[in-house]
Amino acid sequence: MALLDDIDEVLIPEEALKARIRELGQRISTDYAGKEPLLVAILTGAVLFTSDLLRQISIPCQLDFIATSSYGEQVDSSGVVRILKDLNQSIEGRHVIVVDDIIDTGLTMDYLLETLKTRYPASLKVCALLDKLPRRRRFVPIDYRGFEIPDRFVVGYGLDYAGRYRNLPFICVLKTQVYGQAPAIQTQTPAGRSAPA
Ligand code: IMP
Ligand code: MG
Repeated sequence: MALLDDIDEVLIPEEALKARIRELGQRISTDYAGKEPLLVAILTGAVLFTSDLLRQISIPCQLDFIATSSYGEQVDSSGVVRILKDLNQSIEGRHVIVVDDIIDTGLTMDYLLETLKTRYPASLKVCALLDKLPRRRRFVPIDYRGFEIPDRFVVGYGLDYAGRYRNLPFICVLKTQVYGQAPAIQTQTPAGRSAPA
């Protein structure tokens, strides 16, 4: 069955993503002129966004990855996030831009920023494609924001439901009946979140 059959509504079409990412890349190129920023992409959801963003940056920059996991519903009470895969390099003295697909409750990014701050970066900024502000539980300073979205569970362009739909080239909402048929191993649920983030 085709993935397209599962889609209820496209929220952000491919062309709008492209245009916005071009703008973000240009802003970063201007803001970091003369520096060499290190983009830290949060696996796995931010991979598509980051790879497109990187190609819109016209100054020298570098790329590293970090993977986090939250403990399912526990994250809602404790905010504890575990680092599953750490950076390959030191960020001491580096101009770091943390890139994520979506800031939802903000718990993941809040924890990561606190952790990265202890490693003495020269600067630390946040770039997020999507901002689901109504769900925010921790303040997160988003320096480069793609789009604000309403409180709806979205997939596509790197974001998944039960590991699927990352390959859709746009941001969309699934038909409600899709959630009943998810495979046993779920990585994301619309209601809360289970590991890994
Ligand atoms: P937060 O810690 O609640 O801000 O959530 C961070 C992570 O949850 C994101 O990086 C996503 O991986 C995941 N997430 C939050 N909302 C959605 C959504 O609407 N669709 C897919 N994944 C989501
Ligand atoms: Mg994520």
